[in-house]
Amino acid sequence: MSPFLLTRTLPEDATEAALRADVHQGLTRTPKTLPPKWFYDAHGSELFEQITALPEYYPTRAEREILIARAGEAAAATGARTLVELGSGSSEKTRYLIDALTGLHTYVPVDVSESALTQAGQALVAERPDLNVHALIADFTAALTLPDTPGPRLVAFLGGTIGNLLPAERATFLALVRGLLSPGDTVLLGTDLVKDEEVLVRAYDDAAGVTAAFNKNVLSVVNRELGADFAPDAFDHVALWDTANEWIEMRLRSRTEQTVKIPALDLAVDFGAGEELRTEISAKFRREGVRSELSVAGLELSHWWTDREGRFALSLSVAR
Ligand code: SAH
Ligand code: TRP
Repeated sequence: MSPFLLTRTLPEDATEAALRADVHQGLTRTPKTLPPKWFYDAHGSELFEQITALPEYYPTRAEREILIARAGEAAAATGARTLVELGSGSSEKTRYLIDALTGLHTYVPVDVSESALTQAGQALVAERPDLNVHALIADFTAALTLPDTPGPRLVAFLGGTIGNLLPAERATFLALVRGLLSPGDTVLLGTDLVKDEEVLVRAYDDAAGVTAAFNKNVLSVVNRELGADFAPDAFDHVALWDTANEWIEMRLRSRTEQTVKIPALDLAVDFGAGEELRTEISAKFRREGVRSELSVAGLELSHWWTDREGRFALSLSVAR
């Protein structure tokens, strides 16, 4: 195998069709919604990287702290020869794991963002020419076909991205992940934990406005791809804590009454003044909830590691 392979499992026209369907469905229902995977064009991936460095956005630093402390222990417990990473983005924190996995044969980063995969993959093979990197442009919420590489397999899902799925979507997703594994294979899962509301809200509504720009970027994606005429500045970024569901909810609130045209869908969408469009949830977890969701999917929790301040957890689980 050549050291860097990039496979597109989503044909460009299928991606386009999925975007159309999601936008049509999301903007014609009440309340209006847009699914989060459309945040991540090249500009969105770049803005997310800026978010990870913000003083208010602690999850990346907390997870990095855990990986630095525990990558060796995690690697030894998995013995993985193939590491599959879902929503890999820059693969920056993954380096601790890759370097700790002494028998690693192939790294398979999976992401919808081609720019993130290309950048991360090329940087990695430049430094680790011994490692096979087989990147997949794919939607991790749909069935994946993985390359035929040696086991044991470890699936990593970092950054708390699992919290961006609704509870029912998480159950479907975890069952799909389990389906990629053989008994004894492992899953390393990053989950942000329930904590003080103020700390949580600030992490999703930073002073510099980077998260606001990231949230509004989804409107620019719809403008570019479907010819819509969203004025991003006609919307305010909103992040609020939903106590009952224990998730952060990101919304875009229309400043005025306005109509947005989406020519590719032959659609005009009316917004009332103050009407909100839900763009993303980011669920926060507790140990027992994580254990039980994994267990339902056939994954047995074996390790639970947090950062020193107890803000974020990495868990390792084993396929039954
Ligand atoms: N793992 C990285 C990036 C997290 S951001 C970190 O911890 O910093 C979430 C990543 O998941 C982005 O790179 C985004 O492009 C990707 N992503 C979001 N939804 C996706 C989906 N449905 N399928 C595949 N990748 C997705
Ligand atoms: N997985 C990240 C999280 O939930 C994604 C994220 C961070 C995000 N900040 C955001 C998504 C702002 C939308 C808007 O923490």
